[in-house]
Amino acid sequence: MDKLAVQLGARSYPISIGENLLSSAKLFESAIVNKKVMIITNNVVAPLYLQQCEKTLQNFQVEHIILPDGEKYKTFKTFEAILNTLLKKKYARDTTIVALGGGVIGDIAGFVAACYQRGVAFIQVPTTVLAQVDSSVGGKTAVNHPLGKNMIGAFYQPQTVIIDINCLKTLPKREFVAGMAEVIKYGVIYDRNFFDWLNDNVDDIKALEADKITYMIKRCCAIKAEIVAQDEKEHGIRALLNLGHTFGHAIEAEQGYGNWLHGEAVAVGIVIAAKIALTKGLIEREEVEQIMLLIDQFNLPSAPPELMKYSHFAKHMQLDKKVLDGKIRLILPTSIGTGDIFSDTSEAAMQSVIGL
Ligand code: NAD
Ligand code: GLY
Repeated sequence: MDKLAVQLGARSYPISIGENLLSSAKLFESAIVNKKVMIITNNVVAPLYLQQCEKTLQNFQVEHIILPDGEKYKTFKTFEAILNTLLKKKYARDTTIVALGGGVIGDIAGFVAACYQRGVAFIQVPTTVLAQVDSSVGGKTAVNHPLGKNMIGAFYQPQTVIIDINCLKTLPKREFVAGMAEVIKYGVIYDRNFFDWLNDNVDDIKALEADKITYMIKRCCAIKAEIVAQDEKEHGIRALLNLGHTFGHAIEAEQGYGNWLHGEAVAVGIVIAAKIALTKGLIEREEVEQIMLLIDQFNLPSAPPELMKYSHFAKHMQLDKKVLDGKIRLILPTSIGTGDIFSDTSEAAMQSVIGL
């Protein structure tokens, strides 16, 4: 088992990564406040891992809430329904919430934990690549609003993150591949050595080779932990983690959530950002080609849907959380392994890359 920590003073917490960690009572116990535990999961993950999780927690009073699967249930209505259940069942402030699932479950269960009786303990047990390398770490929790994704939420850190890499064995291949976009993101924006390591290990990663997967997840979590420790509430460097997301969110919104997976859209967004960086003279052509090649090796898309032109992107980008004073703030790579935030990109530059 590998371990690392997110250093946030009194709110610091460990991340454990390895095989069969769902069965490790010790990892859970150290984070549980008192007797009562509520596991929040969904109807896809529950048949796979709920029983195992409940067995591990048999020394506690454990109950569960099983939500319907999907981004479309990451809503205020679901949030309210969970709170209603907790209140009816008289859960008190010493409750511990366990989020068992992908990013949707982690985000909504985390937001419930942040709000229920002004905050109760919670444990992230991420079961997708995306959740294991990104969403379970760093404390962003949210639900969607009809006017925008993740628009209602809180920064609220978990007590611990328990990452069982065996869960990835049941993940549909398309979901695995989509999660790889967030992995590639860390290499492009922060760590050239990791980018090269990914290039050298494509086949082993695709084959879920345990040591390689553990290293990959650990490196992503370590980068995220390093960034979050410096900038928990995204006033600066944390924004780098949004590489590709401004364009990606526009693709997801335009195509209808669920038709393009988040990671697929982010992969295209990373390529658009790299090409814009090239037109601004920030990055070498060869590096843009290397980024596109790695994205392709993981079978991720690198071009937007054919009919989606700049005007379609612009419509959604104005609503993006990264717009400040009407100016779109783009995260652009300045080489493989470094990046920065730019507020001076002309519409012409974006149009020339995306197409009119
Ligand atoms: P998801 O939670 O919808 O999971 C993807 C699919 O895989 C779902 O159908 C799910 O039921 C299924 N699944 C989960 N684990 C499985 C397993 N082990 N085996 C089989 N099936 C499994 O999607 P996701 O990609 O994990 O997360 C996307 C969400 O994360 C979005 O809502 C996004 O906004 C959010 N997000 C949050 C942050 C953050 O920092 N909080 C960062 C990135 C993304
Ligand atoms: N996924 C981006 C962040 O957590 O900041």
